Amino acid sequence: MKTNLAKKWVLITGASSGFGAATARAFAGEGSKLILGARRVDRLESVAAECVKLGAPAAVVHALDVGSTPSTDAFAAFVRTQTEKVDVLINNAGGAHGADTVANGKDADWEAMIQVNFLGLLRVTRAILPLMMQNSGSSILNIGSIAGRVAYEGGSVYCGVKAAALQVTKSLRMELCGTGVRVGTIDPGFAETEFSMVRFKGDQAKSDKVYEGTEPLTAEDIAETLVWCASRPPNVCIDELLIKCTDQAAIHKVHRRPVTK
Ligand SMILES: NC(=O)c1ccc[n+]([C@@H]2O[C@H](COP(=O)([O-])OP(=O)(O)OC[C@H]3O[C@@H](n4cnc5c(N)ncnc54)[C@H](OP(=O)(O)O)[C@@H]3O)[C@@H](O)[C@H]2O)c1
Repeated sequence: MKTNLAKKWVLITGASSGFGAATARAFAGEGSKLILGARRVDRLESVAAECVKLGAPAAVVHALDVGSTPSTDAFAAFVRTQTEKVDVLINNAGGAHGADTVANGKDADWEAMIQVNFLGLLRVTRAILPLMMQNSGSSILNIGSIAGRVAYEGGSVYCGVKAAALQVTKSLRMELCGTGVRVGTIDPGFAETEFSMVRFKGDQAKSDKVYEGTEPLTAEDIAETLVWCASRPPNVCIDELLIKCTDQAAIHKVHRRPVTK
């Protein structure tokens, strides 16, 4: 055990794949107790089983659709059956749907992105905050994106909702000032997870193209960053952290090595 996170209750949304699943494993390695939510409960159960093997004293799962208030409230009710306080809330559930220009945008994609990345962040935070308010030194860590800071073609809604999430983080930071509850955003550049497969609706070739010739961030890179943020002393709050792979100097400045086929 390397940190002060042993036996702390850590709640992770979107823990069925990518950053969320890797983060669950990383906190498990620190001896944390885990509450995992996402829509694919079978995947959550596999992640939870791995976490127990890695040293988590508890790893419980419950269905969660952050795009729905009743689902989020049912999830929060389940959390209350497990613990009276949450030490670390990781608002990770999210993603992009499509990469259309505004002219070609689809209502269903726009609505899904707004529901999950923006309203979902608000819903989960509202539901879990009462379990954190009397818990000085606890942390809310929101997964934003470089997309919330810099716009790109075909990213209008995803960039928009991640920019909105950044403003939610900043508002919350001020609203909770004086409570001892820490709030921060961790904003990654491109990382190889299921993100692009979801964005391109299962098109493997389009997904591969995003990372072609680069060494992208991995889910484990983000997971260990989150462990680091949550294990700072209580007087230290990591407000904002932008993390990119070395090959991505800026959103449009990516070093790609020649690919031999
Ligand atoms: N990968 C990147 O390049 C990158 C860069 C910057 C930021 N991000 C952000 O990082 C976060 C994690 O993404 P990832 O890269 O790890 O992608 P991922 O592998 O696709 O994971 C996304 C997770 O979000 C969950 N999720 C999606 N919609 C949900 C909903 N309505 N309710 C509950 N959970 C939901 C998914 O679970 P279910 O499908 O089982 O519900 C899954 O566990 C997202 O917020 C994403 O926007 C990713």
